Amino acid sequence: MEATAFAHPNIALVKYWGKRDTDLNLPVAGSLSLTLGGLSTTTRVRYRDDISRDIVILDGKELRQGSRAYQRVVEFVQLVRNESNHDYFAEVETANDFPTAAGLASSASGFAALALAATSAAGLHLLDEQLSALARRGSGSAARSIYGGFAEMRRGSRKDGHDAFAVPIAGPEHWDLRCVVAVTTQGEKDISSTEGMLRTQESSPLFTPWADTVAGDIVEATDAIKARDFQALGRVAERSCLGMHASAMAADPGVIYWNPTTLELIHRVRRARRDGLQVFFTIDAGPHVKVFCPARELSAVRSVLGQIGGVSDLIVARPGEGAALVAAD
Ligand code: DP6
Repeated sequence: MEATAFAHPNIALVKYWGKRDTDLNLPVAGSLSLTLGGLSTTTRVRYRDDISRDIVILDGKELRQGSRAYQRVVEFVQLVRNESNHDYFAEVETANDFPTAAGLASSASGFAALALAATSAAGLHLLDEQLSALARRGSGSAARSIYGGFAEMRRGSRKDGHDAFAVPIAGPEHWDLRCVVAVTTQGEKDISSTEGMLRTQESSPLFTPWADTVAGDIVEATDAIKARDFQALGRVAERSCLGMHASAMAADPGVIYWNPTTLELIHRVRRARRDGLQVFFTIDAGPHVKVFCPARELSAVRSVLGQIGGVSDLIVARPGEGAALVAAD
């Protein structure tokens, strides 16, 4: 009745933004990502017959019963309990080995690790696609962290969401890329990705036109990955990112995740590319910039990004493995 699993965060190269069903957490469109190694969430789930409610411990601190984070975990554990033949409460202990301030989606690695640990501890053995669909219920991006390397999240068309899961495209060994996360000084309080995407799809005239481009972008990005065509992948990734942010900015009121350093980084990356460096950027629901390059360009990219005043940290990651069990009994 106990299992420990770990999972890595992932960065979308074709973005997920918008839901077609909020209860089942079904996306409006698909997405495509790279799972990052070197950063991970480890989660232990223990079903206990001596506790009268679920307990959640995040980075050594017990979460308050009424908090949003506690509620999110408990709702997810309940989904797993519904599928299993026991009704014990769970003690969930989870820890990230990367700073949450890095703006790396800890909900992606978090719900991927929780899906695997909670089902294994309950004696459920799911196929990867079922595990991915389950992880999606916790957070859309978590569906992709079940796999290592490059993964495609499928939009699916069923109302019950059973065909809305991620599938692998190429393993982490396929392409020796690096992702440098340029952490920029935090601005105002962030709008969560869930809140940002809902406001965008409800009020932005640019949302549907952008969402209509996603399927084509996934085909183009998949071809670029298979051919290891860095320039082609960078083109589609920047286009997807800027289109997503443009649609968010056109919401009412506008959802703006960038700060001045974010914009400075965008221009710096483009200038470095004009100067011959192989490099592209992507940005999620926050002000930090994720810069991709082939492994051999890493030191040049680091020195370019390190010169920017508003950058407080550079975190380097490489393609990583999928979610895995550490221990179970
Ligand atoms: C901008 O997966 O955090 O990072 O499903 O509401 O939990 P929920 O959203 P989440 O959204 C991620 C948005 C993004 C793009 C991406 O990762 O594809």
